[in-house]
Amino acid sequence: MKISIIGGTGYVGLTTAACLAFKGHTVYSVGRNIEKINKINNGIATVYEECLSDILRSAISKGLLFATEDHQKALMNSSIIFICVGTPSKEDGSIDLSQIKTASEQIGESLKKKKDYCVIVVKSTVVPGTTEEFVIPLIEEKSKKEAGVDFGVCMNPEFLREGSAVKDFLYPKEQGIVIGELDKRSGDSLFKIYEDFDAKILRTTLRGAEMIKYARNSYLAKDISFANEIANLCRKLGVDYNEVKIGMEMDSRIGRGRFLNAGIGFGGSCFPKDVKALIAKAKSVGVELGVLERTLLVNEIQPLLMINMLKEFFKPIKGHKIAVLGLAFKKGTDDMRESRSIPIIRALQKEEALIYAFDPQATARSKEIFGDEIYYALTAEEALANAEACLIVTDWPQFSNPKLYNHMKGRIIIDGRRILDPENLSSSFVYRAIGFPE
Ligand code: UGA
Repeated sequence: MKISIIGGTGYVGLTTAACLAFKGHTVYSVGRNIEKINKINNGIATVYEECLSDILRSAISKGLLFATEDHQKALMNSSIIFICVGTPSKEDGSIDLSQIKTASEQIGESLKKKKDYCVIVVKSTVVPGTTEEFVIPLIEEKSKKEAGVDFGVCMNPEFLREGSAVKDFLYPKEQGIVIGELDKRSGDSLFKIYEDFDAKILRTTLRGAEMIKYARNSYLAKDISFANEIANLCRKLGVDYNEVKIGMEMDSRIGRGRFLNAGIGFGGSCFPKDVKALIAKAKSVGVELGVLERTLLVNEIQPLLMINMLKEFFKPIKGHKIAVLGLAFKKGTDDMRESRSIPIIRALQKEEALIYAFDPQATARSKEIFGDEIYYALTAEEALANAEACLIVTDWPQFSNPKLYNHMKGRIIIDGRRILDPENLSSSFVYRAIGFPE
């Protein structure tokens, strides 16, 4: 099949493009940033993501993937057009649809001249009703054609986790595939792309698919905040939350693999944004989502608990050298969006600490936020060698090696991700962690 991806140079778009080309389709990755387009055409991924560069290079060498600015040409040649543009948060938490608007208008303009039937697939995360009430009317207005007659429409949410996005796309057995369809013909066309994937496929309405995406992310975010509140209580009561977690998971109704790891909260481009957007959408129709409002509040408080723990040792923190291990919002990515490292570093700066940060991938992106306001070490050892205390902020596996901390100048470790086992540290260390008894 010939497929266009609008927003094809971004994280979800490029992953979708490279994976569909890997499956043998001819894919046009449509973007606006010429620098990114050139990079992709040279086989260089624009984001750090495991395996993405490999499948990208292979697709390009087989002539199956083209990054381009020319949306007209790409869209005219495609029978399926994915919209993968960003839907960032606005001030009030609702989503900003400006990129969706531009993409829909571009599609409408192209459809005006296009003779063959094609299907537009919204993959961007949009609140329920957006495809029907916003995308379709814009395309119809610009193209003077009718959805369900001249062209098809689907909503196909993405369930990609950063760090394992390529695997999640190609092997979606654990996540399943959701196809929201305007009508059977639209759904049948998109189904052809996924029919040989080893996964359950749910076919539903456009609104149903939009809601499933928000319900899933909100559910997981709510679990994390629940885990964090229980862990905070455990710490005060002298109970190790990690044992409580194991005990909870023994109940098959709670189960393993749930998002019950306690720590400094959730970041990234999805959970914070999606929970806020769902709350805002619910408010607009007079519904209060109290559980999710609390979910966000707990998430604001969690990172600052690390600073409170630090204050037990330094009164004041001013002038003390603190290592921050990890800047990315989680391991396996260079993404800094909503990373919990941001409020932590801002709080340390307010306290006038001397900050030595290290992240194996996210230094460049962190510099976009903090500039040269903090010191970036080239290795974890270098950050630690300077530091009187260390804050573990991201769960990179290399930070779980207890020997690493022998490089520390000081002995205070505050573990925001529970990746160290204090039993493996020498007794000279002082270990503090969320959910670990005081
Ligand atoms: C999340 C979902 O897991 C994906 O299914 C979804 O497709 C994606 O959002 C999206 O909407 O595109 P992602 O944001 O990449 O994926 O990362 P997660 O692995 O879900 O982690 C999110 C945050 O929660 C991280 O900051 C992580 O450290 C934190 N987390 C996760 C916890 O604090 N505790 C946990 O038990 C799990």
